Amino acid sequence: MTESNTHREVILEISNLQKSFGSNKVLDNFNLRLFRGENLVVMGKSGSGKSVMVKCLVGLMEPNSGRITINNKDITSLNQESLDILRTEIGFLFQGSALYDSMTVRENLEFPLRKHKKRLQINETTEHLVQQALKSVGLSSALDLMPSELSGGMKRRVALARALILNPSIIIYDEPTTGLDPITAKEIIALMKSIQSSYGTSALIITHDVDCARVVADRIILLIKGKNYIEGSFQELSSSTDLQVRAFFK
Ligand SMILES: Nc1ncnc2c1ncn2[C@@H]1O[C@H](COP(=O)(O)OP(=O)(O)OP(=O)(O)O)[C@@H](O)[C@H]1O
Ligand SMILES: [Mg+2]
Repeated sequence: MTESNTHREVILEISNLQKSFGSNKVLDNFNLRLFRGENLVVMGKSGSGKSVMVKCLVGLMEPNSGRITINNKDITSLNQESLDILRTEIGFLFQGSALYDSMTVRENLEFPLRKHKKRLQINETTEHLVQQALKSVGLSSALDLMPSELSGGMKRRVALARALILNPSIIIYDEPTTGLDPITAKEIIALMKSIQSSYGTSALIITHDVDCARVVADRIILLIKGKNYIEGSFQELSSSTDLQVRAFFK
């Protein structure tokens, strides 16, 4: 932990997270702190447990043990209603976009609003919020298209618009650039930067894309063998002499 971190507000914290599947120990005392406003990148090899960690975070998977706090609230101690409210604080960009294929872009974006708008006491009209979210990802023209009519990059943008629509304080990106060509990947990376600066959102970014990490990361954690092996800036990690660290930045 660097000196400057001690004064910053922790918005999300994972402590001693353990998750096994049978004898497969995927997360083994994993720890992470996300500070308000920062872009934190978690890198790890395929199968190292990044998606498992994210699923535990958003309550799609139950860890064996450990503590997860979001805005200082322990998510395991909350009842269903409080948990649902807390979840609206988190926008989630799933690995591979995960749009509903039978719904138009508009309907995909309306979905989280329909579920939570009343409870969150949002006054703007659904129509306005949908248009605003699409505009923020540069896709206003796609409103009435079906996901099958979109390119991979467009799908990713729509998924991002959907993740942003409830104005979350935290956004989690699981492999935001995977499967995209280098130019489209660059556009998504630029969009992630601009979301950080224009919305002040704190982001947890799971990626093994070194270019993505270089551009977006304020800090990087390497997940190796279930643990946070090392953390630091891109500069620090990419100049490390540790062989396991170097393997990521070749
Ligand atoms: N539901 C499940 N049941 C059993 N094992 C699982 C389950 N989900 C994940 N695993 C195992 O947990 C390990 C970590 O998987 P995970 O999907 O988190 O990897 P990842 O780091 O996200 O990989 P990638 O970079 O390929 O997305 C793998 O060994 C996987 O087989
Ligand atoms: Mg994954």
